[in-house]
Amino acid sequence: APIDGIVTDTLARFGGRQDQLLPALHAIQDSVGYIPSAHVDGIARHFNLSRAEVHGVITFYHYFRSEPPARCVVQICRAEACQSMGADELAAHAERTLGCGMHGHTADGAFALEPVYCLGLCASSPALTINEAVFARVTPARFDALIADVTT
Ligand code: FES
Repeated sequence: APIDGIVTDTLARFGGRQDQLLPALHAIQDSVGYIPSAHVDGIARHFNLSRAEVHGVITFYHYFRSEPPARCVVQICRAEACQSMGADELAAHAERTLGCGMHGHTADGAFALEPVYCLGLCASSPALTINEAVFARVTPARFDALIADVTT
């Protein structure tokens, strides 16, 4: 799996000194989105620590997750009526804000961005869905507010 490679490569960037454990865990979570339990053994070996010690560090810091974050799917209408009401600008704003392209997902896996073609809300475009909930007349500012709602 690509995750195995990412974890191995990330560990390789850090020496085996135990004070590198925290920076390495941060780097793994930044690129994978979480610290996969299947890799705790390997991480422990790399730093010459026990599995329990590494597990203890991961659970002590609330920042670390052992599970992938719930992926939030954002679909932006790219059909004609929305297009004429600023959907291009909205899509560009979404890509910039989330830091990923259409058909892509954010590096941490938390957001996926997809085009969709007409949500039946042409009269109040531009429209989008967030986890299948539909929103109309979405300005870039409203987009930011909706995303902030999801992440808090
Ligand atoms: Fe976007 Fe119909 S064109 S909702």
